[in-house]
Amino acid sequence: MIQNIKGTKDILPTDIAVWHTIENVFRTIPQLYGYEEIRTPLFESTSLFKRGVGEGTDIVGKEMYVFDDKGGESLTLRPELTAPVARAILQYNLIRHYPTLRVWYYGACFRYEQPQLGRQRQFHQVGAECAGSTNPESDAEIILLAHRLISSCGITDFTLHINSIGTSEERSSYRTLLLDYLNSHRTELSEDAQRRMDKNPLRTLDSKDERDKAVCANAPSILDSLGADSSKRFAAIQEMLSSAGIAYSVNPALVRGLDYYSHTVFEFRTDKLGSQDALGGGGRYDNLFESLGAKPIPGVGFGLGVERLILLMQQQQLVEASHCDVVIITSQSGLTEGATIAESLRSAGLRVKTDVQRRSFKAQLKDIDKSSATYAVILGDDEVSSGNALIKNLASHEQQIVALSD
Ligand code: HAM
Repeated sequence: MIQNIKGTKDILPTDIAVWHTIENVFRTIPQLYGYEEIRTPLFESTSLFKRGVGEGTDIVGKEMYVFDDKGGESLTLRPELTAPVARAILQYNLIRHYPTLRVWYYGACFRYEQPQLGRQRQFHQVGAECAGSTNPESDAEIILLAHRLISSCGITDFTLHINSIGTSEERSSYRTLLLDYLNSHRTELSEDAQRRMDKNPLRTLDSKDERDKAVCANAPSILDSLGADSSKRFAAIQEMLSSAGIAYSVNPALVRGLDYYSHTVFEFRTDKLGSQDALGGGGRYDNLFESLGAKPIPGVGFGLGVERLILLMQQQQLVEASHCDVVIITSQSGLTEGATIAESLRSAGLRVKTDVQRRSFKAQLKDIDKSSATYAVILGDDEVSSGNALIKNLASHEQQIVALSD
């Protein structure tokens, strides 16, 4: 039997209710902040991600689904949506129409990672990007929107971590300091950290290995390498978050794994999903458009992992089972009447199920509770011959005889 591909998941009818609930949140919350939806293709030119996300990142180096199409062009299933959105902004010159361009998105992403709870090869992200402003207000807006999206799903078990990784000059002087420090503790670090330390020492700060964590606990802080402007910017964001009543912790070890960030980075974390503790994250990317060959456009955004949000909603039992309003139970003599009633109730906007198996009246009655309906409309032989229907409230068991003409 052919099975679905490892790392992908079917979303079965029994699981769909939570998806509908969360998709409603996506459709309503970004609008509150003036964000409009953008939809980009599932695959893009490979060079978009190499240039946008960065060749040195795990995403581009190890995790992308890359293939040549029949015309010989190298294509990639999108591992994230910030680079595609930036491409669309440039391609359609979207920023020309708005001094600040605000867009949100929701869709599938693909990364070749080892599947585990909260980690898939095809997963979904919801996110938003705000392009055109360097001001800290836009960073705060993006963080508040992400926060509201998570909270509007009913999720409470999460924390917000923020950091500033400064300008590229500030980062480069910090890199030297950090590398000196890590070198002096080289043998205490994990093999993995030792291997990638010279290429990207900042990633050591993000390591989940206990040996690396112990070394990094006393590492120099990037916040001490920030100049006055960057520090002021970071302080302004913190002030805005505090005045909005949002709890956060400043985490100088937060560096994130994509190359396009500068200044603000942030992550929403949970301790309820084991090692896949990042519900989502984002940051400022003032150099991304330049790396795509355009003039600089500042931007800030976030992406949240939808499967991870859903896992938390399921854990917190925030999901209502899918439901129908009316189940119609008919004897053979009531089939036509039943179908007519079903259609008129649907015209009135009710969700109605009928029996299409021609099961016996008795068998249908026996299964009445499995229908998950609120009401049953019952048309047995007696009801049909007297021109009535029995309406039963399946929760309270109250019932009432109503003339079919009513
Ligand atoms: P990211 O941190 O790579 O950022 O991904 C964002 C979120 O997507 C993660 O925190 C996680 O919840 C979810 N995610 C990532 N990989 C997987 C996976 N294999 N399975 C399930 N969920 C996953 C970005 O993608 C940036 N584009 C965010 C951003 C937008 N930065 C600025 N604007």
